[in-house]
Amino acid sequence: MKRVDDFRLKFGKKELVPIIVGGMGVDISTAELALEAARLGGIGHISDALIHDVSDRRFDTSYVKNKTRFYKANIDNSDKSSVQFDLAHLAEATQLHVGRTMEAKRGDGMVFVNCMEKLTMNSPRDTLQVRLNSALDAGIDGITLSAGLHLGSFGLMAEHPRFRDAKLGIIVSSVRALQLFLRKTARLERLPDFVVIEGPLAGGHLGFGLDWAQYDLATIVAEVAQFLKTEQLDIPLIAAGGIFTGSDAVSFLEHGAAAVQVATRFTVANECGLPDKVKQEYFKASEEDIIVNTVSPTGYPMRMLRNTPAIGSGIRPNCESYGYLLDGSGSCAYITAYNREIGLHPDGKNISVMDKTCLCTHMRNYNCWTCGSSTYRLKDTTRRAADGSYQQLSAEHIFRDYQFSVEHQVALPE
Ligand SMILES: Cc1cc2nc3c(=O)[nH]c(=O)nc-3n(C[C@H](O)[C@H](O)[C@H](O)COP(=O)(O)O)c2cc1C
Repeated sequence: MKRVDDFRLKFGKKELVPIIVGGMGVDISTAELALEAARLGGIGHISDALIHDVSDRRFDTSYVKNKTRFYKANIDNSDKSSVQFDLAHLAEATQLHVGRTMEAKRGDGMVFVNCMEKLTMNSPRDTLQVRLNSALDAGIDGITLSAGLHLGSFGLMAEHPRFRDAKLGIIVSSVRALQLFLRKTARLERLPDFVVIEGPLAGGHLGFGLDWAQYDLATIVAEVAQFLKTEQLDIPLIAAGGIFTGSDAVSFLEHGAAAVQVATRFTVANECGLPDKVKQEYFKASEEDIIVNTVSPTGYPMRMLRNTPAIGSGIRPNCESYGYLLDGSGSCAYITAYNREIGLHPDGKNISVMDKTCLCTHMRNYNCWTCGSSTYRLKDTTRRAADGSYQQLSAEHIFRDYQFSVEHQVALPE
Protein backbone atom coordinates (compact mmCIF):
# COMPACT_ATOMS: atom_id res chain seq x y z
CA MET A 1 0.00 0.00 0.00
CA LYS A 2 1.46 3.33 -1.10
CA ARG A 3 1.90 6.35 1.08
CA VAL A 4 2.65 9.95 0.15
CA ASP A 5 6.30 9.44 1.04
CA ASP A 6 6.64 7.03 -1.89
CA PHE A 7 6.24 10.01 -4.25
CA ARG A 8 8.34 13.08 -4.89
CA LEU A 9 7.57 16.43 -6.47
CA LYS A 10 10.37 17.17 -8.92
CA PHE A 11 11.47 20.67 -9.86
CA GLY A 12 14.44 20.07 -12.14
CA LYS A 13 16.97 18.24 -10.00
CA LYS A 14 15.27 19.19 -6.77
CA GLU A 15 13.00 16.61 -5.13
CA LEU A 16 10.44 17.55 -2.51
CA VAL A 17 7.94 15.76 -0.33
CA PRO A 18 4.80 16.34 -2.42
CA ILE A 19 2.91 18.16 0.32
CA ILE A 20 2.25 21.88 -0.02
CA VAL A 21 0.63 23.86 2.76
CA GLY A 22 -1.59 26.35 0.95
CA GLY A 23 -1.55 30.10 1.45
CA MET A 24 -4.03 31.38 3.99
CA GLY A 25 -4.35 35.13 4.37
CA VAL A 26 -4.33 37.21 6.54
CA ASP A 27 -1.38 35.62 8.30
CA ILE A 28 -3.28 32.39 8.98
CA SER A 29 -0.55 30.54 7.12
CA THR A 30 2.18 32.22 9.16
CA ALA A 31 5.89 32.20 8.46
CA GLU A 32 6.21 29.67 11.30
CA LEU A 33 3.79 27.29 9.58
CA ALA A 34 5.41 27.72 6.17
CA LEU A 35 8.87 27.22 7.65
CA GLU A 36 7.83 23.94 9.25
CA ALA A 37 6.58 22.63 5.92
CA ALA A 38 9.89 23.64 4.32
CA ARG A 39 11.95 22.13 7.14
CA LEU A 40 10.12 18.84 6.65
CA GLY A 41 10.96 18.82 2.95
CA GLY A 42 7.70 20.10 1.51
CA ILE A 43 6.50 23.55 0.51
CA GLY A 44 4.89 26.12 2.78
CA HIS A 45 3.18 29.38 1.85
CA ILE A 46 3.13 32.75 3.43
CA SER A 47 0.60 35.25 2.09
CA ASP A 48 1.03 38.89 1.18
CA ALA A 49 -2.55 39.83 2.05
CA LEU A 50 -2.65 42.94 4.27
CA ILE A 51 1.13 42.91 4.22
CA HIS A 52 1.47 46.25 6.02
CA ASP A 53 -0.56 45.01 8.95
CA VAL A 54 1.36 41.74 9.04
CA SER A 55 4.62 43.69 9.08
CA ASP A 56 3.37 45.99 11.86
CA ARG A 57 2.44 43.04 14.03
CA ARG A 58 5.59 41.07 13.37
CA PHE A 59 8.26 43.70 12.99
CA ASP A 60 6.95 46.66 14.94
CA THR A 61 6.58 48.92 11.92
CA SER A 62 3.76 51.51 11.79
CA TYR A 63 2.51 51.35 8.22
CA VAL A 64 -1.18 51.06 9.07
CA LYS A 65 -1.12 53.80 11.72
CA ASN A 66 0.69 56.14 9.39
CA LYS A 67 -1.63 55.48 6.46
CA THR A 68 -4.67 56.01 8.68
CA ARG A 69 -3.21 59.30 9.86
CA PHE A 70 -2.43 60.38 6.30
CA TYR A 71 -6.01 59.78 5.12
CA LYS A 72 -7.74 60.80 8.37
CA ALA A 73 -9.71 63.58 6.70
CA ASN A 74 -11.38 61.03 4.43
CA ILE A 75 -12.67 58.67 7.12
CA ASP A 76 -16.22 60.07 7.08
CA ASN A 77 -16.29 60.35 3.31
CA SER A 78 -18.29 57.63 1.60
CA ASP A 79 -16.05 58.00 -1.47
CA LYS A 80 -12.77 56.14 -0.94
CA SER A 81 -11.26 56.69 -4.36
CA SER A 82 -8.54 59.03 -3.07
CA VAL A 83 -7.11 56.39 -0.71
CA GLN A 84 -3.96 55.01 -2.30
CA PHE A 85 -1.07 52.84 -1.22
CA ASP A 86 2.44 54.23 -1.13
CA LEU A 87 4.34 51.88 -3.43
CA ALA A 88 7.64 52.34 -1.58
CA HIS A 89 5.99 51.27 1.69
CA LEU A 90 4.39 48.31 -0.05
CA ALA A 91 7.80 47.21 -1.33
CA GLU A 92 9.39 47.65 2.11
CA ALA A 93 6.70 45.70 3.94
CA THR A 94 6.82 42.88 1.40
CA GLN A 95 10.60 42.69 1.56
CA LEU A 96 10.51 42.64 5.33
CA HIS A 97 8.00 39.81 5.62
CA VAL A 98 9.43 37.72 2.80
CA GLY A 99 13.06 38.49 3.63
CA ARG A 100 12.80 37.61 7.31
CA THR A 101 10.96 34.42 6.48
CA MET A 102 13.59 33.35 3.97
CA GLU A 103 16.42 34.13 6.41
CA ALA A 104 14.81 31.76 8.90
CA LYS A 105 14.35 28.91 6.42
CA ARG A 106 15.97 25.58 7.29
CA GLY A 107 15.86 22.23 5.56
CA ASP A 108 15.40 21.12 1.97
CA GLY A 109 11.91 22.40 1.29
CA MET A 110 10.70 25.68 -0.14
CA VAL A 111 8.68 28.71 0.90
CA PHE A 112 6.33 30.36 -1.59
CA VAL A 113 4.17 33.45 -1.28
CA ASN A 114 0.49 33.43 -2.17
CA CYS A 115 -0.48 36.52 -4.20
CA MET A 116 -4.18 37.17 -4.70
CA GLU A 117 -4.98 39.24 -7.77
CA LYS A 118 -8.25 40.32 -6.22
CA LEU A 119 -6.34 42.50 -3.77
CA THR A 120 -6.65 45.33 -6.25
CA MET A 121 -5.54 48.03 -3.78
CA ASN A 122 -7.03 50.95 -5.77
CA SER A 123 -4.30 50.53 -8.38
CA PRO A 124 -4.32 46.90 -9.48
CA ARG A 125 -1.42 46.84 -11.90
CA ASP A 126 1.10 48.97 -10.03
CA THR A 127 0.52 47.40 -6.65
CA LEU A 128 0.65 43.85 -8.00
CA GLN A 129 3.85 44.64 -9.85
CA VAL A 130 5.45 45.89 -6.64
CA ARG A 131 4.19 42.91 -4.63
CA LEU A 132 5.53 40.35 -7.09
CA ASN A 133 8.89 41.98 -7.74
CA SER A 134 9.52 42.79 -4.08
CA ALA A 135 8.91 39.17 -3.14
CA LEU A 136 11.43 38.10 -5.78
CA ASP A 137 13.90 40.73 -4.54
CA ALA A 138 13.59 39.35 -1.02
CA GLY A 139 14.52 35.86 -2.16
CA ILE A 140 11.20 34.01 -2.12
CA ASP A 141 11.54 30.49 -3.58
CA GLY A 142 8.31 30.77 -5.55
CA ILE A 143 5.06 32.65 -6.10
CA THR A 144 1.59 31.16 -6.31
CA LEU A 145 -0.77 33.43 -8.22
CA SER A 146 -4.29 33.08 -6.86
CA ALA A 147 -7.78 34.58 -6.69
CA GLY A 148 -7.98 35.93 -10.21
CA LEU A 149 -7.07 35.04 -13.77
CA HIS A 150 -3.64 36.70 -13.58
CA LEU A 151 -3.51 37.21 -17.33
CA GLY A 152 -0.91 39.96 -17.03
CA SER A 153 0.96 38.88 -13.90
CA PHE A 154 3.87 37.06 -15.54
CA GLY A 155 4.43 40.14 -17.69
CA LEU A 156 4.72 42.27 -14.54
CA MET A 157 7.74 40.21 -13.44
CA ALA A 158 9.31 39.57 -16.84
CA GLU A 159 12.16 42.04 -16.35
CA HIS A 160 13.13 40.70 -12.96
CA PRO A 161 16.47 38.82 -12.93
CA ARG A 162 14.82 35.95 -11.06
CA PHE A 163 11.86 35.66 -13.47
CA ARG A 164 13.15 32.45 -15.00
CA ASP A 165 14.62 30.84 -11.92
CA ALA A 166 12.01 31.39 -9.17
CA LYS A 167 9.18 28.85 -9.19
CA LEU A 168 6.09 30.60 -10.52
CA GLY A 169 2.69 28.96 -10.62
CA ILE A 170 -1.00 29.67 -10.77
CA ILE A 171 -4.15 28.39 -9.09
CA VAL A 172 -6.99 27.51 -11.45
CA SER A 173 -10.28 25.71 -11.05
CA SER A 174 -10.89 24.75 -14.67
CA VAL A 175 -9.07 23.76 -17.81
CA ARG A 176 -10.47 26.88 -19.45
CA ALA A 177 -8.83 29.22 -16.97
CA LEU A 178 -5.49 27.51 -17.55
CA GLN A 179 -5.87 27.71 -21.34
CA LEU A 180 -6.59 31.42 -21.08
CA PHE A 181 -3.55 31.99 -18.87
CA LEU A 182 -1.23 30.04 -21.17
CA ARG A 183 -2.51 31.86 -24.23
CA LYS A 184 -2.01 35.27 -22.63
CA THR A 185 1.50 34.50 -21.37
CA ALA A 186 2.73 32.61 -24.47
CA ARG A 187 4.73 35.56 -25.77
CA LEU A 188 6.95 35.49 -22.66
CA GLU A 189 8.07 31.95 -23.50
CA ARG A 190 7.96 31.03 -19.88
CA LEU A 191 5.56 28.30 -18.76
CA PRO A 192 4.35 28.13 -15.19
CA ASP A 193 6.48 25.77 -13.07
CA PHE A 194 3.37 24.32 -11.46
CA VAL A 195 -0.39 24.56 -11.69
CA VAL A 196 -2.53 24.18 -8.59
CA ILE A 197 -5.97 22.86 -9.39
CA GLU A 198 -8.29 23.94 -6.65
CA GLY A 199 -11.56 22.07 -6.49
CA PRO A 200 -14.89 23.09 -4.98
CA LEU A 201 -14.17 21.81 -1.46
CA ALA A 202 -11.31 24.22 -0.67
CA GLY A 203 -11.24 26.97 1.93
CA GLY A 204 -11.15 30.68 1.22
CA HIS A 205 -12.57 32.02 -2.04
CA LEU A 206 -13.81 29.52 -4.60
CA GLY A 207 -13.09 29.68 -8.30
CA PHE A 208 -16.65 28.51 -9.02
CA GLY A 209 -20.10 30.02 -8.94
CA LEU A 210 -22.76 29.03 -6.45
CA ASP A 211 -23.09 25.83 -8.47
CA TRP A 212 -19.73 24.73 -6.98
CA ALA A 213 -21.21 21.48 -5.67
CA GLN A 214 -21.63 20.18 -9.22
CA TYR A 215 -17.87 20.08 -9.73
CA ASP A 216 -15.41 17.46 -8.66
CA LEU A 217 -11.67 17.89 -8.14
CA ALA A 218 -10.63 14.49 -9.54
CA THR A 219 -12.54 15.19 -12.76
CA ILE A 220 -10.94 18.62 -13.21
CA VAL A 221 -7.46 17.21 -12.52
CA ALA A 222 -8.06 14.53 -15.17
CA GLU A 223 -9.25 17.15 -17.67
CA VAL A 224 -6.25 19.38 -17.08
CA ALA A 225 -3.86 16.40 -17.27
CA GLN A 226 -5.42 15.39 -20.59
CA PHE A 227 -5.13 18.94 -21.92
CA LEU A 228 -1.44 19.16 -20.96
CA LYS A 229 -0.80 15.77 -22.57
CA THR A 230 -2.48 16.84 -25.80
CA GLU A 231 -0.46 20.05 -25.82
CA GLN A 232 2.70 18.13 -24.89
CA LEU A 233 3.30 20.36 -21.92
CA ASP A 234 5.09 18.98 -18.91
CA ILE A 235 3.90 21.04 -15.95
CA PRO A 236 3.46 19.51 -12.48
CA LEU A 237 -0.19 19.49 -11.41
CA ILE A 238 -1.06 20.03 -7.78
CA ALA A 239 -4.46 18.96 -6.52
CA ALA A 240 -6.15 21.00 -3.78
CA GLY A 241 -9.42 21.04 -1.89
CA GLY A 242 -10.80 18.44 0.48
CA ILE A 243 -7.70 16.22 0.65
CA PHE A 244 -7.96 15.18 4.27
CA THR A 245 -5.89 12.02 4.69
CA GLY A 246 -2.64 10.69 3.34
CA SER A 247 -4.67 8.15 1.40
CA ASP A 248 -6.75 10.91 -0.23
CA ALA A 249 -3.44 12.44 -1.31
CA VAL A 250 -2.11 9.12 -2.64
CA SER A 251 -5.16 8.68 -4.82
CA PHE A 252 -4.40 12.04 -6.53
CA LEU A 253 -0.68 11.24 -6.76
CA GLU A 254 -1.57 7.98 -8.49
CA HIS A 255 -3.84 9.78 -10.95
CA GLY A 256 -1.68 12.46 -12.46
CA ALA A 257 -1.02 14.92 -9.63
CA ALA A 258 2.62 15.70 -8.82
CA ALA A 259 1.73 16.98 -5.33
CA VAL A 260 -1.21 17.98 -3.18
CA GLN A 261 -1.96 21.35 -1.61
CA VAL A 262 -3.66 21.15 1.77
CA ALA A 263 -4.75 23.75 4.29
CA THR A 264 -7.75 22.88 6.46
CA ARG A 265 -5.94 20.36 8.64
CA PHE A 266 -3.27 22.95 9.40
CA THR A 267 -5.80 25.55 10.62
CA VAL A 268 -5.65 23.89 14.04
CA ALA A 269 -1.86 23.67 14.19
CA ASN A 270 0.00 25.52 16.93
CA GLU A 271 1.89 27.41 14.21
CA CYS A 272 -1.29 28.58 12.44
CA GLY A 273 -2.10 32.28 12.95
CA LEU A 274 -5.74 31.89 14.00
CA PRO A 275 -6.28 32.74 17.67
CA ASP A 276 -6.65 29.67 19.90
CA LYS A 277 -10.30 30.49 20.56
CA VAL A 278 -11.03 30.48 16.84
CA LYS A 279 -9.23 27.16 16.42
CA GLN A 280 -11.69 25.73 18.93
CA GLU A 281 -14.57 26.99 16.74
CA TYR A 282 -13.05 25.09 13.81
CA PHE A 283 -12.76 21.93 15.91
CA LYS A 284 -16.34 22.23 17.17
CA ALA A 285 -17.92 22.81 13.77
CA SER A 286 -20.41 20.30 12.44
CA GLU A 287 -21.02 19.69 8.75
CA GLU A 288 -24.12 21.93 8.77
CA ASP A 289 -22.06 24.80 10.19
CA ILE A 290 -19.98 25.07 7.02
CA ILE A 291 -21.55 27.33 4.41
CA VAL A 292 -20.67 28.96 1.10
CA ASN A 293 -21.98 32.49 0.67
CA THR A 294 -21.43 35.66 -1.33
CA VAL A 295 -20.55 38.13 1.43
CA SER A 296 -17.02 38.60 0.11
CA PRO A 297 -16.78 41.88 -1.82
CA THR A 298 -14.47 40.16 -4.32
CA GLY A 299 -17.45 38.64 -6.12
CA TYR A 300 -16.20 35.10 -5.52
CA PRO A 301 -18.18 32.73 -3.31
CA MET A 302 -16.39 32.03 -0.06
CA ARG A 303 -16.65 29.15 2.40
CA MET A 304 -16.88 29.94 6.09
CA LEU A 305 -18.38 28.89 9.38
CA ARG A 306 -22.02 29.86 9.80
CA ASN A 307 -21.31 31.63 13.12
CA THR A 308 -18.59 33.83 11.59
CA PRO A 309 -18.82 37.21 13.39
CA ALA A 310 -18.21 39.05 10.12
CA ILE A 311 -21.61 38.01 8.72
CA GLY A 312 -24.13 40.82 9.25
CA SER A 313 -21.60 43.19 10.78
CA GLY A 314 -22.19 46.79 9.77
CA ILE A 315 -18.90 48.40 10.67
CA ARG A 316 -17.73 51.53 8.91
CA PRO A 317 -15.42 50.66 5.98
CA ASN A 318 -11.81 50.94 7.12
CA CYS A 319 -10.23 51.77 3.77
CA GLU A 320 -8.10 54.56 5.18
CA SER A 321 -6.30 51.90 7.23
CA TYR A 322 -6.62 48.92 4.88
CA GLY A 323 -8.37 49.35 1.51
CA TYR A 324 -6.93 46.22 -0.10
CA LEU A 325 -10.14 45.44 -1.98
CA LEU A 326 -10.64 48.87 -3.54
CA ASP A 327 -10.86 48.27 -7.26
CA GLY A 328 -9.18 50.37 -9.95
CA SER A 329 -11.74 53.13 -9.47
CA GLY A 330 -11.62 53.12 -5.69
CA SER A 331 -14.82 51.23 -4.95
CA CYS A 332 -15.60 48.03 -3.09
CA ALA A 333 -18.90 46.16 -2.94
CA TYR A 334 -18.93 46.48 0.85
CA ILE A 335 -18.79 50.29 0.65
CA THR A 336 -21.76 50.27 -1.70
CA ALA A 337 -23.73 47.97 0.60
CA TYR A 338 -22.75 49.98 3.67
CA ASN A 339 -23.71 53.31 2.06
CA ARG A 340 -27.09 51.84 1.11
CA GLU A 341 -27.75 50.88 4.74
CA ILE A 342 -26.62 54.31 5.95
CA GLY A 343 -29.09 55.82 3.48
CA LEU A 344 -31.85 53.76 5.09
CA HIS A 345 -30.67 54.44 8.67
CA PRO A 346 -29.05 57.88 8.60
CA ASP A 347 -28.34 57.90 12.35
CA GLY A 348 -25.78 55.16 11.60
CA LYS A 349 -26.82 53.16 14.67
CA ASN A 350 -27.31 49.39 14.73
CA ILE A 351 -26.38 49.06 11.11
CA SER A 352 -26.25 45.49 9.87
CA VAL A 353 -25.04 44.69 6.38
CA MET A 354 -26.07 41.19 5.42
CA ASP A 355 -25.12 40.89 1.76
CA LYS A 356 -21.45 41.95 1.94
CA THR A 357 -18.76 42.15 4.58
CA CYS A 358 -15.79 44.42 5.24
CA LEU A 359 -13.39 41.62 4.42
CA CYS A 360 -10.16 43.54 5.11
CA THR A 361 -11.14 44.45 8.66
CA HIS A 362 -12.68 41.11 9.51
CA MET A 363 -9.90 38.99 8.07
CA ARG A 364 -7.40 41.24 9.84
CA ASN A 365 -9.18 40.65 13.16
CA TYR A 366 -9.68 36.92 12.54
CA ASN A 367 -13.44 37.49 12.54
CA CYS A 368 -14.08 35.96 9.15
CA TRP A 369 -13.78 32.26 9.81
CA THR A 370 -13.14 30.99 6.32
CA CYS A 371 -12.56 27.25 6.20
CA GLY A 372 -12.49 24.19 3.99
CA SER A 373 -15.42 21.83 3.55
CA SER A 374 -13.84 19.13 5.72
CA THR A 375 -13.40 21.38 8.77
CA TYR A 376 -16.08 19.35 10.59
CA ARG A 377 -13.67 16.39 10.56
CA LEU A 378 -10.93 18.21 12.48
CA LYS A 379 -12.33 16.99 15.78
CA ASP A 380 -11.46 13.45 14.65
CA THR A 381 -7.79 14.39 14.29
CA THR A 382 -7.14 15.15 17.96
CA ARG A 383 -8.00 14.46 21.58
CA ARG A 384 -10.52 16.23 23.75
CA ALA A 385 -9.74 17.40 27.28
CA ALA A 386 -12.06 16.96 30.26
CA ASP A 387 -13.14 20.62 29.93
CA GLY A 388 -14.38 19.92 26.40
CA SER A 389 -11.59 21.76 24.61
CA TYR A 390 -9.70 20.14 21.76
CA GLN A 391 -5.94 19.72 21.73
CA GLN A 392 -4.08 21.72 19.09
CA LEU A 393 -1.55 19.85 17.01
CA SER A 394 1.95 20.59 15.85
CA ALA A 395 2.39 21.30 12.15
CA GLU A 396 5.00 18.56 12.11
CA HIS A 397 2.49 16.03 13.41
CA ILE A 398 -0.05 16.93 10.71
CA PHE A 399 2.58 17.03 7.96
CA ARG A 400 3.98 13.63 8.89
CA ASP A 401 0.50 12.18 9.16
CA TYR A 402 -0.13 13.18 5.54
CA GLN A 403 3.30 11.86 4.57
CA PHE A 404 3.21 8.42 6.18
CA SER A 405 -0.37 7.37 6.96
CA VAL A 406 -2.19 4.60 5.11
CA GLU A 407 -5.76 3.33 4.84
CA HIS A 408 -7.27 6.74 5.60
CA GLN A 409 -5.95 6.57 9.13
CA VAL A 410 -5.32 9.77 11.03
CA ALA A 411 -2.76 9.59 13.83
CA LEU A 412 -3.87 11.27 17.06
CA PRO A 413 -1.34 13.46 18.92
CA GLU A 414 0.61 12.12 21.92
C1 LIG B 1 -8.53 29.36 6.47
C2 LIG B 1 -8.19 29.32 5.01
C3 LIG B 1 -7.77 30.46 4.36
C4 LIG B 1 -7.40 30.41 3.01
N1 LIG B 1 -6.94 31.55 2.41
C5 LIG B 1 -6.48 31.50 1.14
C6 LIG B 1 -5.84 32.63 0.56
O1 LIG B 1 -5.66 33.67 1.20
N2 LIG B 1 -5.41 32.53 -0.74
C7 LIG B 1 -5.57 31.36 -1.46
O2 LIG B 1 -5.16 31.31 -2.61
N3 LIG B 1 -6.14 30.27 -0.91
C8 LIG B 1 -6.58 30.32 0.36
N4 LIG B 1 -7.11 29.18 0.94
C9 LIG B 1 -7.12 27.92 0.15
C10 LIG B 1 -5.93 27.02 0.52
O3 LIG B 1 -4.71 27.62 0.22
C11 LIG B 1 -5.98 25.61 -0.11
O4 LIG B 1 -5.73 25.63 -1.49
C12 LIG B 1 -7.27 24.83 0.11
O5 LIG B 1 -7.96 25.23 1.25
C13 LIG B 1 -6.92 23.35 0.20
O6 LIG B 1 -8.02 22.58 0.57
P1 LIG B 1 -8.23 22.00 2.06
O7 LIG B 1 -8.37 23.21 2.95
O8 LIG B 1 -9.48 21.20 1.96
O9 LIG B 1 -7.02 21.19 2.43
C14 LIG B 1 -7.49 29.20 2.29
C15 LIG B 1 -7.93 28.05 2.97
C16 LIG B 1 -8.27 28.09 4.29
C17 LIG B 1 -8.71 26.82 4.99
